[in-house]
Amino acid sequence: MSLKVGIFGITGRMGRSIHDIAVQFPDLKIIGGTSRAPESISPMDLAEKSDVLLDFSTPLCLDSHVQACLEEQKPLLIGTTGLSESHLKTIQKAAEHIPILLAPNTSLGITILAHLVQKAAEQLDFSYDIEIFETHHRNKADAPSGTALMLGQRAAQGRHQQPSSHIRQNGERKPGEIGYAVHRGGGVFGEHSVRFLGDDEIIELKHTALSRHLFARGALKAVSKLATKQPGYYTPTEIFL
Ligand SMILES: NC(=O)c1ccc[n+]([C@@H]2O[C@H](COP(=O)([O-])OP(=O)(O)OC[C@H]3O[C@@H](n4cnc5c(N)ncnc54)[C@H](OP(=O)(O)O)[C@@H]3O)[C@@H](O)[C@H]2O)c1
Repeated sequence: MSLKVGIFGITGRMGRSIHDIAVQFPDLKIIGGTSRAPESISPMDLAEKSDVLLDFSTPLCLDSHVQACLEEQKPLLIGTTGLSESHLKTIQKAAEHIPILLAPNTSLGITILAHLVQKAAEQLDFSYDIEIFETHHRNKADAPSGTALMLGQRAAQGRHQQPSSHIRQNGERKPGEIGYAVHRGGGVFGEHSVRFLGDDEIIELKHTALSRHLFARGALKAVSKLATKQPGYYTPTEIFL
């Protein structure tokens, strides 16, 4: 029998892409989703009807989506980015009762890139400055992207740093800072590049998404796995690799 999948944000760019690509997954059935439209199904009804849920909406309604999954005891993949500390606390608490995957990027390539970034940061000392570049389409709401921030976190982890205090501000570079540069324009699906800049060499690790279906396909592969998991907070590394 097919796994029933509900999508919070089904009318968005990602929601539509997931809906389109789902025909390639005979074990999954998209049963519907939410939007801002007055006729939209409620988050609670969607959670009740689904076996597993995907969130590709906006931080504004994330808490109500987590609450609905919690009440209905359904696994949830969160792809929405631009989340606050308060969102993260809500997610961690809910993950004591349901399986939750927080995946600011659902591509295998970025999961591998993040792994490589952490490994490189472990090997390179503080004489290498770390700068992260990202480009996205003109309509993207948050900046830096959730993926760029995640890559920064993994670099910081590799260097045993606290990630939040190392976002570079204006002015001269301070030792150990991790800088972010953001481009917005056109229809770019997502480009991320992490550069380690030494005095005599630059190492660059880069990923380019060539289609939005990349993220949609990754999200659908991930929910199938998430649906088999015990309650807990899962990372993309645990689900994708
Ligand atoms: N994890 C990944 O790999 C990945 C990849 C791409 C994007 N993302 C992230 O996924 C999220 C969605 O991206 P997108 O490009 O699909 O955005 P989008 O096109 O703006 O779609 C947003 C969706 O959320 C719904 N929505 C917005 N505000 C709402 C509200 N107040 N109540 C209920 N529904 C609401 C929209 O409904 P209406 O159509 O009615 O407005 C729409 O269905 C973003 O945070 C983005 O950064 C993640």
